[in-house]
Amino acid sequence: MTLLFGLLGRNIGYTLSPYIHNTVFKMYNIDAEYHVIDVPESELEEKLKYIFERYTGLNVTIPYKITIMKYLDELTREAEIVGAVNTVKIDNKKIGHNTDIVGIELSLKRKNIDVKGRDCLVLGAGGAARAAVYVFYKGEARRVVVCNRSRSRAEELKKHFEKYDIDVEIVDWDKRNEIARQSDIIINCTPVGTLSEESPLDTTVIDSGKVVIDMVYRPRYTRLLRDAASRGAVIVDGLTILIYQALAADKFWLGIEPSEELFNAVERVLEDLAW
Ligand SMILES: NC(=O)c1ccc[n+]([C@@H]2O[C@H](COP(=O)([O-])OP(=O)(O)OC[C@H]3O[C@@H](n4cnc5c(N)ncnc54)[C@H](OP(=O)(O)O)[C@@H]3O)[C@@H](O)[C@H]2O)c1
Repeated sequence: MTLLFGLLGRNIGYTLSPYIHNTVFKMYNIDAEYHVIDVPESELEEKLKYIFERYTGLNVTIPYKITIMKYLDELTREAEIVGAVNTVKIDNKKIGHNTDIVGIELSLKRKNIDVKGRDCLVLGAGGAARAAVYVFYKGEARRVVVCNRSRSRAEELKKHFEKYDIDVEIVDWDKRNEIARQSDIIINCTPVGTLSEESPLDTTVIDSGKVVIDMVYRPRYTRLLRDAASRGAVIVDGLTILIYQALAADKFWLGIEPSEELFNAVERVLEDLAW
């Protein structure tokens, strides 16, 4: 029987997910299809009944990453920490998971980046920022600073992590360049740079001793990353993270390990797309 997987969201015609997962299914000879499931909010509850009966796994995106949680039986620790679900496994139970944490971890590992003892700066305070904070905490960073446009959301993030005994410092958004200068590892978890030449930081704050990571994946090499590379920093791009977080979903659904061979095959497929 053909297994069904899909991306649940609204206005998601732009997604790269079918290209990623279909490549994996093909490489592993898995009889499966991956669908884009675009559902208006007013129809979500009714459509979910149908989806849960027929599908084996879902990815979930805007605007349902939080709404979906009330329809699930269990959450993994990663989903709990991020406070949002981007992957669901449907079996006798419906389990919600979040693969952004492992997506960042595997991308750092690929470049042999160790966060232990380093001073880390997270720009943004949404779901991606929560994943980044947890990666730095788990990797035993010396200091984790969050800098967000609205102070209230940064405070909300800090409060969320207090429940897990994880300490986060908050610095105002207008001090981001100052704090970036003192940081060893910087991750952009805002959408700044998406399909634009904007950067969340001044070029001059980056030097060759730093690691700069961008969650934005369109374009793959954002202005921030190009500036960072030109100043000798080590960079990690959002497309690499996107591929690893997708491969982590395939591991969660089907037990497939996210190997280098698989990563390279998916990367080739995405590079060939005109996007
Ligand atoms: N590569 C990957 O695999 C991957 C995975 C997840 C997310 N992402 C990307 O990461 C980015 C953040 O995603 P998310 O899920 O964390 O989104 P989110 O929950 O909506 O959070 C967005 C954060 O960015 C800040 N922000 C938004 N516009 C800004 C601007 N113009 N200037 C400064 N700050 C701004 C927001 O600040 P306020 O609180 O002030 O609004 C908020 O803290 C998106 O571009 C997303 O596509 C990539």
